[in-house]
Amino acid sequence: LFSAVEMAPRDPILGLNEAFNADTRSHKVNLGVGVYFTEEGRIPLLRAVAEAEKARIEAHAPRGYLPIEGIAAYDSAVQKLLFGADSALLAEGRVVTTQAVGGTGALKTGADFLKRLLPNAVVAISDPSWENHRALFESAGFPVQNYRYYDAATNGVNRAGLLEDLQNLPARSVVVLHACCHNPTGVDLSLDDWKAVLEVLREREHVPFLDIAYQGFGEGIDQDAFAVRLFAESGLPFFVSSSFSKSFSLYGERVGALSIVTASKEEAGRVLSQAKRVIRTNYSNPPTHGATVVANVLNSPELRTLWEEELGEMRQRIRDMRLAMVEQLAAQGAKRDFSFVARQRGMFSYSGLTAEQVERLKNEFAIYAVGTGRICVAALNRSNLDAVTKAIVQVL
Ligand code: LMR
Repeated sequence: LFSAVEMAPRDPILGLNEAFNADTRSHKVNLGVGVYFTEEGRIPLLRAVAEAEKARIEAHAPRGYLPIEGIAAYDSAVQKLLFGADSALLAEGRVVTTQAVGGTGALKTGADFLKRLLPNAVVAISDPSWENHRALFESAGFPVQNYRYYDAATNGVNRAGLLEDLQNLPARSVVVLHACCHNPTGVDLSLDDWKAVLEVLREREHVPFLDIAYQGFGEGIDQDAFAVRLFAESGLPFFVSSSFSKSFSLYGERVGALSIVTASKEEAGRVLSQAKRVIRTNYSNPPTHGATVVANVLNSPELRTLWEEELGEMRQRIRDMRLAMVEQLAAQGAKRDFSFVARQRGMFSYSGLTAEQVERLKNEFAIYAVGTGRICVAALNRSNLDAVTKAIVQVL
């Protein structure tokens, strides 16, 4: 049966973790996967999370099956975080939200549902995009194309190319957009760019799929939801995949959500029934622990304030590391101007390092980064920064 099965390539991001874990060099640094580490180099357990977990354990809560769409208090907390507590759409009952197995699970549920709705559609993703976007939509059966996005010459957005490519896609394409903290580039659309993009999507009847995995890591919780709220006002139907992996430091708990904006409460009921079919045939119903913790934090005024403080600390530490990295690279004698790193948002920097340079970083210095030159700034700290910047200057 398996004699002709070929060896699949390692995953470009999670495969790096496997290689990193197997590396025996004690000075190794993992700048590959998008995970926030503290100044001490540890994945934090947020205090707000620890408190909610303690209360949950003490309550000896039973672990029955959840509803297919997940915990109601969680789904509604997600909606408020994304659309705003006073959203008219929420008041009208037009948004369907289902708990998902991480942001990836939300994308997959959305992709499978869209395949039934628009079997012949093309899916368009940014060039570049998170590596798993293409793989995921292709595995749901869609042809996947790129639209122009990143401009290496300016380290900014290629606005004209982006709008032209969206215009030229077949009508009713599915367009995947990073709502904030673009992965991998860290380069986001301006408010004005978002408005221009929205107009093309409306004109071409494209279906927007906003992916928001880093809410709170850019400017703040509400500011980072700008695109979601702009689209909410547009009257268009759209999809949102969201995740608490990063913002709650709950990576392994797989806590995400899929939200679908519909035209009416009645439509929402029908859409929910179909989303539930997709979930039931994939994994039946979601897990309890992470979503309960997140719901309890978001729905408790004290824990929510604590969480927002902790999220703010993570955001600020990443910004500090961006500035420190730019300074250190210049101090180590880098010939290239790296000031763009300080302007990028979220966990990543698209450093401009080539695949060969990334390979040298790994082989010669035990520093792991994604082959595209993406580095996770959230894994830098005062103890590893010197070694990392020295190594980058060496391989340049
Ligand atoms: C990343 O981009 O590194 C993260 O989103 C983790 C992942 O699943 O790829």
